Amino acid sequence: MINRPIQINKYEVKNRIAMPALVCFHWADQEGFETYDRGVHYGKRAKGGTGLIIVEATAISKEGRLADTELGLWRDEHIPQFQKLAASAHAEGAVVIIQLVHAGRQGVGPSVYSSSSASLAEKECHAMSAEQIEQVKRDFVSAAIRAKQAGLDGVEIHGAHGYLLSQFTSKEVNDRSDQYGGSLDNRLRLSLDILTAIREAVGKEFILCYRLGVNDPTMEEDRYFARKLEQIGVDLLNVSSGIGANNLEMPEISYDPITYMGTEIYKEVDIPVICVFGIRDPKQAEYLLENDLIDMVAVGRGLLADPEWTNKAIAKDKINICYHCKPRCRYVIDGRECPWYSSF
Ligand SMILES: Cc1cc2nc3c(=O)[nH]c(=O)nc-3n(C[C@H](O)[C@H](O)[C@H](O)COP(=O)(O)O)c2cc1C
Repeated sequence: MINRPIQINKYEVKNRIAMPALVCFHWADQEGFETYDRGVHYGKRAKGGTGLIIVEATAISKEGRLADTELGLWRDEHIPQFQKLAASAHAEGAVVIIQLVHAGRQGVGPSVYSSSSASLAEKECHAMSAEQIEQVKRDFVSAAIRAKQAGLDGVEIHGAHGYLLSQFTSKEVNDRSDQYGGSLDNRLRLSLDILTAIREAVGKEFILCYRLGVNDPTMEEDRYFARKLEQIGVDLLNVSSGIGANNLEMPEISYDPITYMGTEIYKEVDIPVICVFGIRDPKQAEYLLENDLIDMVAVGRGLLADPEWTNKAIAKDKINICYHCKPRCRYVIDGRECPWYSSF
């Protein structure tokens, strides 16, 4: 089942395994340029058989960075690094899209902006003006156009993990009283406007994916949002956590609540849905696919530990299993800290 193709927009993805966005902190400079060759990094995962690669969180503007060593796509000069990456992934038969992000109140620097002035940590946070909202929309569109110019096959808009778009969709953060706050339709407006504007700018044949941060605060709202995303022409949903994803009522099942939420969104729409979290053993992926619980399975840390994860899963060979380091993934500190770094 892993080895079954799937159609996403005009692309046939050769199997059901996706590499989700995994930001490589400290592997870029402060201007958004790589300091570690992403052509090699992603090329190895493509060579290892992974059908769909989602390139790590890449900032649409300098102030929208989630870290000061994050890749950027806010200048034309950034395009060549992604051209190289796209070419190496394509040479190995992978479809490759890039995740675009604005971090909002989780951004770099002492002064940040968001859907409200509720701040995190010691940052000074400002509620966004109408002009700042329009600028963010333009920045997302420009970055998507550059992604297309680089030869990438699509974009994933980051609407999860508490970054800017989550800060708009979440009732817990968004306290606006204009057309971007209050009702559910108003809170979804910014994401939907951005996706619609991107589609207009890049045309029909460019994959438009949304990383949906769910249970934020309820799954009922997510189901509605998922249907809306499908209606406006999003091609693919990649389900992960939102800001308030900790009060979920779920049946007794053997996989993570985040994975479960993906399987629930799968029931709601006809476009392909990806689920994620803690998939280390191919049997877990097979279970989800064979039981018709999901379209695609994303393997994150597993693909860091073993770039050949997908080919080995298909051939039933032994995989380098990710240790899921505690208290947190050591790759987050720096890729070179990962116990499997030598196999990178
Ligand atoms: C080192 C690291 C970097 C990550 N970077 C991103 C990112 O850039 N964008 C994103 O949406 N999620 C990011 N995530 C979350 C992953 O995409 C994925 O959802 C998570 O690791 C769970 O999948 P896994 O259990 O297969 O690793 C990151 C996770 C890790 C461990």
